[in-house]
Amino acid sequence: MPTGIIESLDHEARGITRLEGKTIFVEGGLPGEYVEYSCYRKKPTFEIARIERIIEASASRIEPKCPHFGVCGGCSMQHFEPSAQVAAKQRLLESNLWHLGRLVAGQIYAPIQGMAWGYRFRARLSARMVQKKGGMLIGFHERKSSYVADMQQCPNLPRHVSDLLLPLRRLISDLSINAAMPQIEVAVGETMTALVLRILEPINAADEGLLRDFADRHGIVFYLQPKGPSSAFRFYPLDERRLSYLLPDYGIEHGFSPTEFTQVNHAINRVLVRRAMTLLDARAGERIADMFCGLGNFSLPIARSGARVAGIEGSPELVRRAGENAAANGLTDRVEYGVANLFEATPESLAALGHFDKMLIDPPREGAVELVKSIGEREGEGGPRRIVYVSCNPATLARDAAILVHQKGYGLSGAGVVNMFPNTSHVESIALFDKG
Ligand SMILES: C[S@@+](CC[C@H](N)C(=O)[O-])C[C@H]1O[C@@H](n2cnc3c(N)ncnc32)[C@H](O)[C@@H]1O
Repeated sequence: MPTGIIESLDHEARGITRLEGKTIFVEGGLPGEYVEYSCYRKKPTFEIARIERIIEASASRIEPKCPHFGVCGGCSMQHFEPSAQVAAKQRLLESNLWHLGRLVAGQIYAPIQGMAWGYRFRARLSARMVQKKGGMLIGFHERKSSYVADMQQCPNLPRHVSDLLLPLRRLISDLSINAAMPQIEVAVGETMTALVLRILEPINAADEGLLRDFADRHGIVFYLQPKGPSSAFRFYPLDERRLSYLLPDYGIEHGFSPTEFTQVNHAINRVLVRRAMTLLDARAGERIADMFCGLGNFSLPIARSGARVAGIEGSPELVRRAGENAAANGLTDRVEYGVANLFEATPESLAALGHFDKMLIDPPREGAVELVKSIGEREGEGGPRRIVYVSCNPATLARDAAILVHQKGYGLSGAGVVNMFPNTSHVESIALFDKG
């Protein structure tokens, strides 16, 4: 059986080794480890392998905290000591910038990291009746499969949500529509926890009673979602509590609905916003764009600095929410929001928004290629002099950064990782681009 030394991790947290010039992705292998492996998928340029024996283990290999680790697809790095996870993510960011963008950041920022457990304030769980596994299962999907993991706990979820997993199984199996309730979305706010039940059929009076009773007993709020995310409505209890998260440094409270996008890790988000604000260095009198602004996570802190903000976002619901949040925080005079599909941005559509001194870009995984291509393309419009780019995919960040640097004349002043999703392979990062 072949042996090899793991050189680094790929974007799915698989170890990388080489055999006769071929790349081998070794699942579960950690950098520096000497392992014996067997390949189970062979392609002309690479192979995928599993570990048969660890001959020399990494000093950063630890015992996974969760008994479901390895089966559940919710995370893939629990066997790797948390600060070593961050270092590996940092290396992945730097290697993407170099290999995909031929870029080296002027400065590597200290990683933003926090609690390794109990951080995940949003989650989408699947529910499925599986008789041969004893009934109702509620959890993330198993790794590389559409089966629902037999999940009894999850240390990445806040403790009170993890503790609900088994009671929820009993509740959902008692509902008359237990075969027509495929998903439970969890959203945790400052003062309440919401569970959104995706219902494919109407519930009956007995179901309503069971849900009310469960909500009272566990202090949660149920929403029902008969169709798409915007059809979700609050079912019980209809009290004063509302979902929100705080940005105490800026005296801001963002309200949200449980199916709307919010950053999953509220503690890290506070530090991320602070880092973005430091890099943006927003000043009174400036006009700043917040591209892919969502519900205004960055827009309102920018507005607090005295600058004027234009937030652009593709979801009309989020734009409406952003407007409500601006009003609730007394900032309507400094922010304007608009709906636009930024994947179809053109030099003309960008120019129509007017001049921006600075820009913050926080796109989904696909990145912002059309937007960055459109920057500074109009006669007499040089584009913003500073861009802060928050990314959840280092590959698209590197691609977009290459355009900003090699075509648009920006310098990549700095970049760093943000461990928004500990124990998973997701790499969140932040980069600063300056002109002149
Ligand atoms: C990573 S989130 C960032 C949201 C916000 N900045 C925050 O911190 O909460 C990306 C946002 O891009 C929006 N989005 C996705 N595709 C888009 C598109 N084609 N045009 C404009 N916005 C889009 C999503 O609705 C989402 O709000």
